[in-house]
Amino acid sequence: MSDSSSCQGCPSAAGCGSAGNPEGCPSTSTPAASSGCGGGCGGPTPEQQAEEARLQATLSHIRNTIVVMSGKGGVGKSSTAANIAAGLALAGKRVGLLDVDVHGPSIPRLLKLDAAQANVDGDTIQPVQWREGVSLSVMSLGFFLPDGRQAVIWRGPVKMGFIKQLLSDVAWGELDFLVVDCPPGTGDEPLSVLQLLGDAARALIVTTPQAVAVDDVRRSLGFCEDLNVPVLGVIENMSGIVCSKCGNVESLFGQGGGERLAKEMNVPFLGAVPLDPEIVRAGDEGNIYIASHPDRPAATVLRTIVDALVEADAPQG
Ligand SMILES: Nc1ncnc2c1ncn2[C@@H]1O[C@H](COP(=O)(O)OP(=O)(O)OP(=O)(O)O)[C@@H](O)[C@H]1O
Ligand SMILES: [Mg+2]
Ligand SMILES: [Zn+2]
Repeated sequence: MSDSSSCQGCPSAAGCGSAGNPEGCPSTSTPAASSGCGGGCGGPTPEQQAEEARLQATLSHIRNTIVVMSGKGGVGKSSTAANIAAGLALAGKRVGLLDVDVHGPSIPRLLKLDAAQANVDGDTIQPVQWREGVSLSVMSLGFFLPDGRQAVIWRGPVKMGFIKQLLSDVAWGELDFLVVDCPPGTGDEPLSVLQLLGDAARALIVTTPQAVAVDDVRRSLGFCEDLNVPVLGVIENMSGIVCSKCGNVESLFGQGGGERLAKEMNVPFLGAVPLDPEIVRAGDEGNIYIASHPDRPAATVLRTIVDALVEADAPQG
């Protein structure tokens, strides 16, 4: 009888093609693999070992990794990731922002970098800098696509390989924070990212207040639990609405779902970001809201979240 589950739980299972196909699993001889691919695995090729070493070398220069995810589409993951990354950079941190949404990369547009192209220099990919005087390095599949082409169709293992390259071959340098923007759901991209980052990964979960989103997001939290990924917290986005006349936050139906979910799942609640039409406008124009509208109520909440992340990173004692 063949052992079809030999790669189950292996940190590189996605790289094996599928959990049941341990052929060429890159993990067998890495220390992290001791709990994974027990049998049937062919072992990594020297090339795979070199790749793994490169990845670990790059990751050793990144202090905090924040993976922004949600079971639900369109809840504001990319906007949140971009604002938090920019907020951290504006607070003086060295920040990387990695967009692993290979089907619809939106980070380049949000940062007005849609005309930028990836600069590949031998084995190294130079990240694109957001703006002068701020340490925010950005990488996205969008920088590799010809103009106007915003979608590619890739199978899981190819995505995994590409994401691995973005993590390990980009010249991130020394980073205080790497923020990763994932597509919705619990598919190949978040799985690859979390597996590649290993112990370094921390998840930041975005939801909207409505029950239907909360249900999907509960699945994301379960996914993190299954993968043993610590959850930094839940953000409830589009919670209430900023009045276009007076600027006050007015209650909208269904507020509080994210906070209740955080309580239920015993993870921190990081804040409720109201719905503000200016976020849409800022996003469409490539202006980072937290920088272009620093006094709006939603920007204040986003800054509180940034401050909490900075605080959590501060040396204890
Ligand atoms: N707090 C907010 N107030 C108003 N609009 C918002 C807010 N947050 C996000 N948006 C808008 O909602 C839309 C979707 O946001 P975004 O692209 O960040 O979501 P996403 O979760 O990354 O989507 P996808 O699942 O497609 O990757 C965008 O037009 C964005 O400007
Ligand atoms: Mg997105
Ligand atoms: Zn009003």
